[in-house]
Amino acid sequence: MLIDSIGKSFRKTIIAGNWKMNKTPSEAKALIEEIAPLVKDAKCEVVCCVPYVDLATAIEAAKDTNIKIGAENCHWAESGAFTGEISTAMLKEIGVEYVVIGHSERRQYFGETDETVNKRTKAALAAGLKAIVCVGELLWERECNITKEVIARQIKLDLWDVSVEELKNVVIAYEPVWAIGTGKTATAEQAEEVCEFIRVCLNGLYGLEAAQGVTIQYGGSMNENNAAELLMKPNVDGGLIGGASLVAEKFASVVGATDFDY
Ligand code: PGA
Repeated sequence: MLIDSIGKSFRKTIIAGNWKMNKTPSEAKALIEEIAPLVKDAKCEVVCCVPYVDLATAIEAAKDTNIKIGAENCHWAESGAFTGEISTAMLKEIGVEYVVIGHSERRQYFGETDETVNKRTKAALAAGLKAIVCVGELLWERECNITKEVIARQIKLDLWDVSVEELKNVVIAYEPVWAIGTGKTATAEQAEEVCEFIRVCLNGLYGLEAAQGVTIQYGGSMNENNAAELLMKPNVDGGLIGGASLVAEKFASVVGATDFDY
């Protein structure tokens, strides 16, 4: 198998919190201030992806820390008649570095499709943002044994027309939909199997060197208790953390779980 564990030591490990629709600006400030001292010696990249209205406050609170701030979505157009949407230039101007794209909640509740995920990803990359592109199968799809087909399709469509150069700013988050917010984590073996498969897909599209460089996160009920086992897998290079990212000690302990000699 071309995809071995050697690449892991070259890849950036990234632990990103996905706050979803939680925390007001003042609560965001307090949480960032609580997290900051706990993760200051982190061996990995630490990111907090927060609601739009919290971004400015979070960026200010994270200013002299190693925490990077991300948004939870962005629109693909530069500007125009898109009521309620936010452009990449707006995010970039205030200092946002990351953006989550295609989260399964966007796909499930807000009609996000692979086509719009692709457009948003392209726009984010063009603006110089780092895109955390989420993929993952539904429970029904796993039960029908089509997980790999679903993932291969998402990877191909979501990254359509993304160049090998742009790929350097792409992070893939593998989030099995059945594991999100359910307390049901994929086993480390299940997570590794799909994360490895994602790298195989990337290898097919971009070649081995580029594929080996992409950070692939696992997400879905990842927490302080299961993080270490997941993160030790050769193709799991980080985590996208929902519920556990809202509690400073829990989030910090997931960050701490990246601190091992591989
Ligand atoms: P969860 O969410 O950790 O609460 O399951 C993960 C996510 O949706 O990114």
